[in-house]
Amino acid sequence: MGKEYSIGFQTLNDELSLESLPIEGNIPDWLSGTLIRNGPAKFEFGDRRYNTWLDGMAMLNRFSIHDGKVSFSNKYLDSKTFKKNRKTDSISVAEFATDPCRTIFQRVYSVFFPDFTDNASVNIAKIANKFVAMTETSVPIEFDPETIESLSHLNFSGSVKGELTTAHPQYDFDRDETYNYTTDMSVISHYKVFKLSGNSNKRELIASVPALKPSYMHSFAMTENYIVLAEFPLKVCPSQLLLGFSLLDRPFIDNFKWLPEGGTQFQVIDKRDGNVVAKLKAPPFYAFHHINAFERGEEIVLDIAAFDDASVISELYLDRLCGDQPDALSFSQFRRYTLPLDGSETSFEVLSDEAIELPRINYRHFNGKPYSFAYGISFIKDSPGDWYNQLVKVNVEEKVSSVWNAENCYPGEPVFVPAPEASSEDDGVILSVVLDAKKRSSYLLVLDAKTFTEMGRAIVPLAMPFGFHGQFLSLLDSNN
Ligand code: CO
Repeated sequence: MGKEYSIGFQTLNDELSLESLPIEGNIPDWLSGTLIRNGPAKFEFGDRRYNTWLDGMAMLNRFSIHDGKVSFSNKYLDSKTFKKNRKTDSISVAEFATDPCRTIFQRVYSVFFPDFTDNASVNIAKIANKFVAMTETSVPIEFDPETIESLSHLNFSGSVKGELTTAHPQYDFDRDETYNYTTDMSVISHYKVFKLSGNSNKRELIASVPALKPSYMHSFAMTENYIVLAEFPLKVCPSQLLLGFSLLDRPFIDNFKWLPEGGTQFQVIDKRDGNVVAKLKAPPFYAFHHINAFERGEEIVLDIAAFDDASVISELYLDRLCGDQPDALSFSQFRRYTLPLDGSETSFEVLSDEAIELPRINYRHFNGKPYSFAYGISFIKDSPGDWYNQLVKVNVEEKVSSVWNAENCYPGEPVFVPAPEASSEDDGVILSVVLDAKKRSSYLLVLDAKTFTEMGRAIVPLAMPFGFHGQFLSLLDSNN
């Protein structure tokens, strides 16, 4: 049967639309807008189950909040992959760590007619004036933010091509530009850093950075003037790539190997002219998520949720997560790296003794700038074998952490929403979807971000599977 939290890794078939959720406590009147979250919610077709949490079929969840009331709806993302799997009642498209069972003929066919997944389960964003669900293949799916109905694929114009990208684009509010990169896999691969200006769908190339062994990078950092790629030593083996089959012949992540000898390399790219201004080495580590970064004199300060190695990826396999006695999760440490632009030694310090994952900040006002507060999911010390069971707020200047937890409860990514006319960086609320494993239902938790204490919650009559990322839209905003 496994641990109680494993209900968060089980398929949810119900799709609901509810006008008003029961509220406990108080949701502030000023909070007005819509939280849309993305994450996997279906983990099997026919008699096959996906291998990892990361592979499940995308579901969008929508909480619309006005006048202290909350409405809710949830709906599967109607991707081509989802349609095909449903029609055949089988896993017919490869995901991050699950490969379809294919005949030799199908394997050869797929090399010429690649069928990359469009199961965009990772994040949502507003790109080219459209709301889209995103994953790491280059096919975001537009949806209607009012109904969360899936619309068409978002096609990019411009000549920037690549197979892999991130579901964590960065938005530069001063320049009204969206940044991301894509990895163009070839004999000599390149990271292609690009931007989209204003509401344009045109990818404009900023830099093409060669990579003999491209790294798996789930996100990147951005400051006022620089993009930083942290090349972790989780790398594609070029010999496999040269065989041409590898990307499609096995689950995506199995193409990557942990090669710690080379360490982690930071590549600092100037947003203005595309020049690589520094390449800096650090001892090996791995991360999914950057927290924030900013410039300080002739150096960059880069905050990241760091693991000692990439074994966290194998910890996310469903067999392990839903097993009786899973080992403790790898500890994701809040590290602050200092990157001198003159290319001298990097160093890091640890800013919290609490673990942090799915980190968020007051993005609208402090991304790329000196800041004081980060929020994330975490786990209670001395709860080995448990899933992330608390929220953490880190004061990065004072290196002091506060936590929120509740018995049998498993909170998701904490999204910060600033109060109107906010008087300080943490003047606002934190929104997090929490699974109460004992009650087998979820709720939208509203915390006062300043005191990190509960203001209220809206109860959902479902046990919602654990999600990845979401955004709060006050739909008039140009972004985020
Ligand atoms: Co992510």
